Amino acid sequence: MQTTPLESLDQWDDAVRDRYDPNRKKDEFRVYDDKTPPVVREFYRQNHQFQTLDSVLAREKEFGPLNRGEMGIWEAMEKLNTLVDDSDPDTSLSQIEHNLQTAEAIRRDGHPRWMILTGFIHDLGKMLCFYDEPQWAVVGDTFPVGCAWSDKIVYPEFFAANPDRNRPELQTPNGIYEEGCGLRSVHLSWGHDEYLYRVTREYLPEPARYMIRYHSCYPIHREGAYTHLLDAHDREMLEWVRKFNPYDLYSKSHSRPELSQLRPYYDELVAEFFPSRIRW
Ligand SMILES: [Fe+2]
Ligand SMILES: [Fe+2]
Repeated sequence: MQTTPLESLDQWDDAVRDRYDPNRKKDEFRVYDDKTPPVVREFYRQNHQFQTLDSVLAREKEFGPLNRGEMGIWEAMEKLNTLVDDSDPDTSLSQIEHNLQTAEAIRRDGHPRWMILTGFIHDLGKMLCFYDEPQWAVVGDTFPVGCAWSDKIVYPEFFAANPDRNRPELQTPNGIYEEGCGLRSVHLSWGHDEYLYRVTREYLPEPARYMIRYHSCYPIHREGAYTHLLDAHDREMLEWVRKFNPYDLYSKSHSRPELSQLRPYYDELVAEFFPSRIRW
């Protein structure tokens, strides 16, 4: 089984950006599928086939205790940066550069320091790659498992190969959940969002935790699906996720941020919220 269809994880990020390109015309939305590179489609095929309730519960159990060692935020950032693919040096940004561009755009708009920090660290959960995790368990739009899949999830047809299809108790709108139970009770497909949420949750304010945990959950924060599982607290906090999303999607530019100039500011910001080492 080939589990690495994408040449780099950025290919998924780029595909999401294309899908939600503000300049895209309405009727172009339908031809999106045709224009998507086959490797991205293959990636989603695997993601939708293998993200089952049981595979998610197993990963929550495996990674939830954070027993992969201790590391500082910068150390994680530098390690993640070794993932950059240099096949296209003109357009591909390193992970640090994407994180810095997101954070700097938030900073330019005068948002609070915790939100700038959130932009700076939001993709650090991609550290999962270093634990030999397949791409489908690191990136991809996330969605609830344990209940019926929404047709607002990209490529819903690929769920035909997901074994949860044969478990009728997971195929109702509420599935294993209570109506209005709130997202905190809902298991989402596993990836860098949920992992980083678990790594950082004790250090950050609640809106930052939502931004990190749900930033890839396009079916909920962008498409408005699964409202029957949300509670009032989610509705309030999802506004923050929506506020965050454009910085993640549209802050990409070709001018590379100058790490050496920005480093003192981000050193101070990281130290304001995090101890020198945290558990991963
Ligand atoms: Fe992300
Ligand atoms: Fe991102």
